[in-house]
This record gives sequence, structure tokens and C-alpha cells, in this order.
Amino acid sequence: MILIISFIIVSISFFFIFSLFHTIFNQKLRYCNCEICHAYLTSSWRKDFVNLSDWYAHLLRRSPTSTIKVHVLNSVITANPSNVEHILKTRFHNYPKGKQFSVILGDLLGRGIFNSDGDTWRFQRKLASLELGSVSVRVFAHAIVRTEIETRLIPVLTSFSSEPGSVLDLQDVFRRFSFDTISKLSFGFDPDCLRLPFPTSEFAVAFDTASTLSAKRALAPSPLLWKIKRVLRIGSEKQLKESIDVINRLAGDLIKHRRLTGLTEKNNDLISRFMAVVAEEDDEYLRDIVVSFLLAGRDTVAAGSTGFFWLLIHHPKVENRIREELDRVMGPGFESVTASCDEMRDMDYLHAALYESMRLYPPVQFDSKFALNDDVLSDGTFVKRGTRVTYHPYAMGRMGRIWGPDYQEFKPERWLNNEGKFRPENPVKYPVFQAGARVCVGKEMAIMEMKSIAVAIIRRFKIRAAGLGFTETLRFMPGLTATVNGGLPVLIQEMRT
Ligand code: HEM
Repeated sequence: MILIISFIIVSISFFFIFSLFHTIFNQKLRYCNCEICHAYLTSSWRKDFVNLSDWYAHLLRRSPTSTIKVHVLNSVITANPSNVEHILKTRFHNYPKGKQFSVILGDLLGRGIFNSDGDTWRFQRKLASLELGSVSVRVFAHAIVRTEIETRLIPVLTSFSSEPGSVLDLQDVFRRFSFDTISKLSFGFDPDCLRLPFPTSEFAVAFDTASTLSAKRALAPSPLLWKIKRVLRIGSEKQLKESIDVINRLAGDLIKHRRLTGLTEKNNDLISRFMAVVAEEDDEYLRDIVVSFLLAGRDTVAAGSTGFFWLLIHHPKVENRIREELDRVMGPGFESVTASCDEMRDMDYLHAALYESMRLYPPVQFDSKFALNDDVLSDGTFVKRGTRVTYHPYAMGRMGRIWGPDYQEFKPERWLNNEGKFRPENPVKYPVFQAGARVCVGKEMAIMEMKSIAVAIIRRFKIRAAGLGFTETLRFMPGLTATVNGGLPVLIQEMRT
């Protein structure tokens, strides 16, 4: 026994000393006392700003080049569209996701598209674009969303509206909605989360815990801290491992089941489609591919819908204009709550309002790459090899230089041309779905889902802020996607009653 304990202590000490030297020699421990680094290290920015992203937006507006450096993080942050073009398009090969990112998310995402570069990424990208672009998968996704609205979303909202004064957290509803839909699309598996009384899904909880704890690794002052905890299987790392085990068990069961039932014509879910091209014995790779989709497609749609409804509640004129558009395209009345794809294509004002809401509240507030080699950005900023380079959609949506002096206003009209038709913006100015070779492959699906949710709710219900729950600034929790602290508490009134 004593021998084992001594061995463990010696191993830990060796690991600790080795990692410390490794960290120091790789210059991961930095010190700088410039204004920005000092405010970051002492958290003094919290005196004036609610969210870190608001502070960064302020600094980026103040910077003549719309770019700043946070030396202690070895990081360059930019809100300059020509730099975004440089990083995501012109010098794409110099800015991969990088090892730092893939190590942090590796346990959860493995070799999935979200976490890979080079040939592994290219293979999945090709497959994903092909599948998500195919008519059969689009029709399948539309049918899933439609069913979720008619059989789950509407009954839940109706139930709350029949009890005047009962408060519903709309963010939670959207998270349940998008988890059900992306699980059905990816795995052909229905977690059945959106029903009363809101059940706890083992899969959803494991997934939430795993993505939150993985994201928190990035906030550790040194990777050494979480790596030691992982080796020792203690604290958050123990919890992370347990959650990933749950995901692996469930994913493994689903893959086995699919293999047994065979790849019939009826299976349009992504796992069945990917199974046809991934080597038979590589179930782990299959699991990785699909888990990336869950991560990419779940919280993003929920975050986008939450930001949209928060803005709508505060802008009843926009809500009325959308309602008028829905009446024009779908015919007046409250009865039909789901629109066809053709009808949705004609909803330019709603489309504009969704884009405008994601300008102010992008689901992915910032996104980082790592420089492979020394480089100079378009605005002249020098980037040393290994630097984390972040483009910041949240700050970019709040730049007068990009959107004009009324950038703080929620104005769907800025996305419409003189004929009232939607006018897209250059993605390097609006990288909400990223831009270039790694632009979001689920963009069309995400818009279809968000539009469908908006149509159903706006057509049948009136949503109002509940009590004192609203402040002028949304407070976000740290994580990979924007999640509002405290959710979106609302009161609901069904219009036909
Ligand atoms: C409003 C909703 C969404 C937003 C704002 C969004 C945004 C993004 C962003 C910013 C990226 C780049 C992330 C990075 O490289 O680090 C991305 C990538 C991706 N998204 Fe989305 N996304 C949304 C919905 C979806 C949905 C519904 C799906 C799947 C059905 C999806 C699938 C993907 C995939 C697979 C990638 C990886 C692409 C690659 O690396 O080549 N997304 N998305």
C-alpha cells in the first residue's frame, strides 16, 4: 500500500515539475502590466461592463485599427472586416483551429469536424456539405421541426397561456426544442425533452455538463491545472469524464442499433448517411462526427432564438410588422402555425429581423484560430507564430465603423433593399456564421428552424416580459455559445382564446 502511495506521489510530482518547465519554456505564463492586461488580470473591467464581450467591444471601438492585443493571453482580438477576410479567407491555411483548441475539446469532440484541421476536416466537410445540402435531408429536417412545433412547442405554450401569470423560461424551451430536433436529425434519436413537466434527459444533462466543463478548460490560467485534475480524476475533470462516458455509452448504443437495423431508405438521419461511407469498424469516428453536429446545432439555434425574442419583446412595432407579413404570406388567422419552405422564402422582413437580432446577439460571440507562422494582418498588426487570433462577431455587430452611427438600434430595415427584399451582407463584415472555407454548413437549416419557431410563436401567441426579470443588458454565462444567465422569463397569452 505504502509503495503504491509513494509511486503515485512521485508520479504526480514528476508530472507537475515537467509540466511547469514545459509551460515556462513555451512562454505560456506571461505577465504584462499594460492597461488592457492589468484590467483583465484584476477583473477591474467588471466595474463598467456586465460582460467580457461588452468590454472587448468597447476596446475595439476605441482602437484606431479595430484590433487589440491581450498580451497575458497571447491573443490578438479583431473586429476589423479586412483582418477577418485575411484570417478566414486569404491566409486560411495559416489560421487553423490549432492544437490548443483541439486539446481542450478533444475528450468531448474527438476527431469531429468542429475539432479537426487538414484532411480529417476536409473529409467531413465534404460529406457534411453534401448531406446537409441534399433535398432529402432538408425535407427530413423540415418535417422534424414541423412535428416538434405542432406536437410539443404549441401544447407547452398553450398550457402556460391557460394559467395566467405563470412564468415560462423561453430560453429553456428553445434549448429543449433544438436538442430534440438536432438529436433526431443527427442520431435518429428522440430525447423527448420538450414536454410538461419538463423532464430531465440524461443525454441532455451529460451533453450540457460536458460542453460547459470543456469550455471552462479554456478559462484556466494555465492548461497545467486542468491536465493535473484530469490525471488525478478529481473535481470538474472527474465530472467531465463521467458526462463523456454517458455520451459515449448512448452514442455507442445508437450506432450498434443502426448497424443492426441496417441502412434502410427510411433512415435520413446523419449517422445513417455517414455510416455508409465511414469504415465499418470505426464506430468511434462515427460518434465523433455526430457529436460535433450536436454541439454545432443545438445551443446556437437556441441562443439565436433567445436573442431574437428578447429584442422582439422590446420592439412591438417590429413584432407587428412581422405579424402583418405572416398574414400576407400565410393568410390571416391564428390557426396555421407552420409555414412551408416556399412560404418562408417569401418572409423577407422576418428574415431581416433574424439577421438583425444576430448582429446584436450572435450565438457564437467570438471564435479563435491559432497562427501557424509569423504573419502581418491587413491592418498592420504583427502576429507571432502560436498567437491566438480571435475575430469577434459580438463586437463587430456593435461597431459604428461597420453599421453606422445607429449601430445600437434594432433595425431590420437595414437588411432590406428598396423593394423590401432581403439584402445579404458580406460575411467578413457579419461573420455570425463565420466566413470562407469553414463557414457554417448548417446555416440554411438553422435559419429554417429559427424562422419556423418565430412563425409559430408570433402567429399564435403574445409574449411579454415577466416581472422584473429583464435588465437593459443581457448577462451571458461563460461558454462556447451565448447563454443568458437567468434565462428568458416570459408571460404568454394565446391570441385565439
Ligand atoms: C444560428 C445558428 C448557428 C450559428 C450562429 C452557427 C455558427 C457557426 C460558426 C460561427 C461556425 C464556425 C465555428 C468554428 O469554426 O469554430 C459554425 C460551424 C459549423 N456549424 Fe454552425 N451555426 C449555427 C447552426 C448550425 C446548425 C443547425 C448546424 C447543423 C445542422 C451547424 C453545423 C455546423 C458545422 C458542422 C460547423 C463546422 C464547419 C467546419 O468546421 O467546416 N450549425 N457554425
